[in-house]
Amino acid sequence: MHKLLELDLIRVVEEAAIAAARFMGTGDKIGADDAATTAMRTRLNELDIRGTVVIGEGELDEAPMLYIGEKLGQSPDAGQEIDIAVDPLEGTNLTASGMNNAITVMAMAERGGLLHAPDIYMNKLVVRPEAANRVDIHAPVKKNLKALAQALSRTLGELVVVVLDRPRHAALIAEIRATGARIKLITDGDILPAIAATVRGTNIHAMMGTGGAPEGVLAAAALKCLNGYMQAHFVVRDGADEAQDRAKLTHAGIAEPQRVLTIEDLAPGKQMLFAATGVTNGDLLHGVQFFPGGARTNSMVMALQAGTVRFVESIHSLDPKRKPMIFSL
Ligand code: FBP
Repeated sequence: MHKLLELDLIRVVEEAAIAAARFMGTGDKIGADDAATTAMRTRLNELDIRGTVVIGEGELDEAPMLYIGEKLGQSPDAGQEIDIAVDPLEGTNLTASGMNNAITVMAMAERGGLLHAPDIYMNKLVVRPEAANRVDIHAPVKKNLKALAQALSRTLGELVVVVLDRPRHAALIAEIRATGARIKLITDGDILPAIAATVRGTNIHAMMGTGGAPEGVLAAAALKCLNGYMQAHFVVRDGADEAQDRAKLTHAGIAEPQRVLTIEDLAPGKQMLFAATGVTNGDLLHGVQFFPGGARTNSMVMALQAGTVRFVESIHSLDPKRKPMIFSL
């Protein structure tokens, strides 16, 4: 994929973040999501690409923009075909309530480079790369955490595991606590913690539990660029939701939801790009800061082939008539 796309991608997530950040703390999560989606789609459509959304805002009948299968870009009939995964606003509630760790996020790969995961739940296990191949998502939590502690030369009490704070995780949380490991409960947004669990210095060593499958693919795209480690499997809900989940799996051609998926299954592409911009402040990225006449954004963009992870700080002039732009270093 063209190297310049790295820069293009930053613009896409930056502009979505600026649009979403205007809704910070307003309580309007739908407005925030719509603004991010519109900005992301507009900018993607300006790129010289021949893209197809494979992870998006939903099926065509559910989402008018960035729906699965939507063609994007200025070159619909020429050039390399690119698959696109987007989550225009990861953390709609976080943004609406002004809480930490909301981001705009997307990944790109050559055609077939990102799993077309249905929008159902996915159980995810992310551990520091040092513990690669020493854990098994179907094994008891205690066994996995012991293996992780050993790989990192830590005691169990020196581990921090991120878990989404949901009633469905009550047993998981109890099992983690019983080992002596510590937990960071989060209210939303499990893509950033998956990245944080891969990077040294974050004081996060693992992420466990069930979240969205589309978010699982996006996390895998980032972890592929970072040489991280992740296992996952689809989760079919019980009761009234079961038929719907099974229909989505059938539609996606997935026969064995319990099969363990690795990063290679979730993000098999060889030309992976991943980009995210902070909307609100977070563990890895600062949120959008508005100042008179402009805004400052903080993004990360990863490129598998180039082997780069860039952290990009940008100053945007949003109102050219309003001079001077006042910002500090
Ligand atoms: P939003 O789509 O509202 O931003 O939520 C995203 C998210 O928190 C993901 O990060 C996570 O994987 C999933 O939702 C969890 O789903 P649920 O809220 O149904 O437990």
